[in-house]
Order: sequence, then structure tokens, then C-alpha cells
Amino acid sequence: MQKIIILDFGSQTTQLIARRVRELDTFCEVLPYNRYPEDDTDVIGVILSGSPYSVHDPESFRLDLNAFLGRKPVLGICYGAQLMAHVLGGTVEKTDTREYGRAILQTVVSDELTKGIHEGGQVWMSHGDTITSLPAGFRLLASTESVRFAAYRSEAQPLWGVQFHPEAVHSEIGPQLLRNFVVGICGSRQEWSAASFVSQTVSELQSQLGQDRVILGLSGGVDSTVAAVLLHKAIGDRLTCIFVDHGMLRLNEFADVMRDYHSLGLNVIGVDASERFFKDLEGITDPEQKRKIIGRDFVEVFNAEAAKVKDAHWLAQGTIYPDRIESLNITGKTIKSHHNVGGLPKDMRLQLCEPLRWLFKDEVRRVGRELGVPEHLIGRHPFPGPGLAVRILGDITREKVHILQQADAIFIRHLREAGLYDKIWQAGAVLLSTVRSVGVMGDERTYENPVALRAVTSTDAMTADFYPIPYEVLAKVSNEIINKVKGVNRVCYDISSKPPATIEWE
Ligand code: XMP
Repeated sequence: MQKIIILDFGSQTTQLIARRVRELDTFCEVLPYNRYPEDDTDVIGVILSGSPYSVHDPESFRLDLNAFLGRKPVLGICYGAQLMAHVLGGTVEKTDTREYGRAILQTVVSDELTKGIHEGGQVWMSHGDTITSLPAGFRLLASTESVRFAAYRSEAQPLWGVQFHPEAVHSEIGPQLLRNFVVGICGSRQEWSAASFVSQTVSELQSQLGQDRVILGLSGGVDSTVAAVLLHKAIGDRLTCIFVDHGMLRLNEFADVMRDYHSLGLNVIGVDASERFFKDLEGITDPEQKRKIIGRDFVEVFNAEAAKVKDAHWLAQGTIYPDRIESLNITGKTIKSHHNVGGLPKDMRLQLCEPLRWLFKDEVRRVGRELGVPEHLIGRHPFPGPGLAVRILGDITREKVHILQQADAIFIRHLREAGLYDKIWQAGAVLLSTVRSVGVMGDERTYENPVALRAVTSTDAMTADFYPIPYEVLAKVSNEIINKVKGVNRVCYDISSKPPATIEWE
């Protein structure tokens, strides 16, 4: 399949470039700057990302342009544009002020890259250095008030550079420019779609897996569900799914999700292991220790069930692309480690199968729809592996979990009724069971726990902001929780952003 290679020089927006290319129904892969593939038959174009470095820094990332120069169309973005200008004989100089924010194109020269883009178009700048002269045989394509060479091209080679960030949302002309490059210049057939992904992946899985049996851990979340349905389409009942109930899921979630899985035709073993989890968590108050115990127990329960599946060769997981992208930070280390892998049953020697490994979250949802996964499963908010355990301060008991489940269910129902659920990235209630406050109900004094409500917007959970739920909705939620949930006499709304807070309380 045709693909665009994005070489990453450590910019924070590299993933965003990849998303934009995918939005053009074109497959793309993000690779570290020095890992251009040896076999590039399917590569139709190369994009060089920005970087926290200046081309003059001795430790800045260098690249052998000869690997693709002249053979594949290249678009350099910010540092990528400066690097090509610098290496090919132009001049890049340090400027005193770092230019950041919106800028307006003043001159636009007609070209394949600037088709449909005019003077007055808004772009987004974020750079310290600037290109002050172009290599011989290059020409200027666009300027802004403060940047002369805001866009350029080579006359002799299929090579373009832009100083601004077309991938940023505030670059209004960005989508057009990227379309011009990906579709116009590189000739993408725009064949990357949910339907093409499904048919291609199903046939790949069939040839990869043959007659082998596969085990998959279901969590109720969208990624593992879509992975399961895709695998089921490929190998039918040779896929065995295991869904472990650790007792800290949402109200009725285990039964509801099991019913959904059965109606999708999946072969699922549901394991109620809650007793063991509650016993092992008894008296444990430290958040990290709670997580460790749940993680350990989960792996042991899962492995014990998996061992019962005879002749299994593969362990499938719902790992998605952002979990795997090796984004570089300035020290060359990965920013985020992959937390899906771990707990592979060692003695079972299972091979790993990750059918969603190329997809972004929104693409997983599109594929899920294509496969007929019901909307209420596709649109579900993310939910942490340790479940409500990270939403109960202090030790965990069945009683506390039950109190929180009821409060959480009321909150989520009101969000749905108010049409807010789909506008929110993630929401839930938190039981502040280490805090007690005085209240009055009827003629009686109460001394009970508060519940905090949390609802955030986010795109990747790395940063988040609280969602401005209207007061009327908050009032209804608070009223119903205090009236119906025994043990709770106060409701607060968490209005912190991440950072400095986190989404979960523990
Ligand atoms: P924080 O609280 O770090 O959460 O802002 C970011 C995202 O990760 C989820 N989360 C977890 N998921 N195991 C998981 O599988 C965990 O231990 C865990 N802790 C947090 C959280 O729900 C949010 O989506």
C-alpha cells in the first residue's frame, strides 16, 4: 500500500502530522529521523518534522538526504525545511526572538504546493532560527511579514520546505497545503479507509495465523473490543477472549459488556475474580501498591484462564499506534513507554498479535463502525485498568465500591441525558473516603463522605482540562447522589486541569 514516511526529529507535533496525512485517507508511518527504510518501494513521499534543535547545535540530528533525495518528493516542515536549506548550501541564522503564533502569508507564488492558497492565508509559526538565503536553484514560494522564506522549493528536485507548521490547527491553509503535497505532488490514491483496512487486515491475519488459536484479553474498552471483532472476522471461534472482572468495574458493567460481546458473536470466557482482588487489597491504602496488587492479580488470573485454552499460539492485544510511536525527545529517549505489553505469560511462549497497531484512536472507532460494533461500545469513555480502585481514596472494600458505582452511574446517566457524554473525553465519580464532613438530612445530623465529580476534555490523556458542565446539570447530579446514595452527603466538582493535576485522583 502507498505510504508517506514521516521522519521525526523530536518535534511535539510529529504525531499531528501523521494524523493529518491519515485524514487525507493516506497511510503513513512515523520513523526516527535516521531510520528511513531500505526498501522504499511503497513510499510515495517523505515529510521531515520540526525539532527542538537548531541546525547549528552540534548535537542536532543530521540525516543523509541522499537516501531519497531526487527519487521521492520531500516536504520539510520548520526544522526539516531549515535542515534541507542548510545542508544544500543555503543559510540559516539564529534570530533574537523566537517567533511563535499566527502569521499571515503576504506573498504567495503559484506552484503545485501552493495551489488554492492565497495571500492573507493564516499559518502557525514556532521557530527560533530562520532561513536567510536559499540554496542555488531554489525559489521562494511564500513570505510573511517577518519571514522571507516561509515556503520554498527546489527547481531541480521534488523538494519543498515550509517554515510554518501546516499540521497545527491554527494553520488555516494547512489542510490545503498538505493535500497539495500528499495527493497532488506525491500522487496518493487515498485508498486508506476503514473498509480497506478491514479487508486487508483480515486477509493478513488469516495468512499470519493459519489454523492457530489466539487468546485476547477484553476490557470492555473500544480498542480491545475492535481488536476482538476484527480477529473474530478473520479466524472465527479460534479466537478465545477472556474478560476478567476484578470487582471494581462500573455498576452492572461486567454483565452488560458480556451481553454485548455475546451478541457480537465473540467466544468469551467471563471470569469473576473479585473475591481474590478484594482479599488482596484489604487494608492497602497506598495508590501505587494498590495498582501493583491489581496488576499482579490480573496477570495471574488471566494466565490461569489462558493456560486452559489448549494449543494457543498467539496473544492478541488492542495496542494502537500512539502507544508505539517512538517519539524522540531531546535526549533521544522515548517519551511514553508502551504500557499495554507486560504480563505476557512467559511459560506459554505466546507470540504477540496486534491488529490495531497502525491505527489512531479515531481510526479504531471508524474501523469499529465498519465492523458493526454498536455505537455505545465505540463511544465509551476510557476507563483505567485498575477501575474504581484509583477513584477510591484509602483502602478498598466492596461497600465503598458499591457506593461509588451508584454515584458514578447517576453522574454518567445525567451526562448522557444532557447530551454531554460525547463532548467529554472521560468522566467519573471519585469517592473521597478518607474525608468526612457534617451534613443534615431531615432532622438527623450526618457525618459521611463526599464524592468528587471529574469530567475532562482531552485528545490523548497527556493533557486535559475540566469540562464546563452547566450548573443545572451539576445541581441535578448532586441532588440525586445525595438523596439516593447512602454514605454520601456532599458532592464537589473537580475543576483542575492536567497538568498540574492528573485525570484520576490516584
Ligand atoms: P492520569 O490520571 O495519569 O490518567 O491523568 C491518564 C489516563 O490514563 C488512565 N489511567 C490508567 N489506565 N491503568 C490504566 O490502564 C492505570 O493504572 C491508569 N491510571 C490512569 C486514566 O483513566 C486516563 O485515561
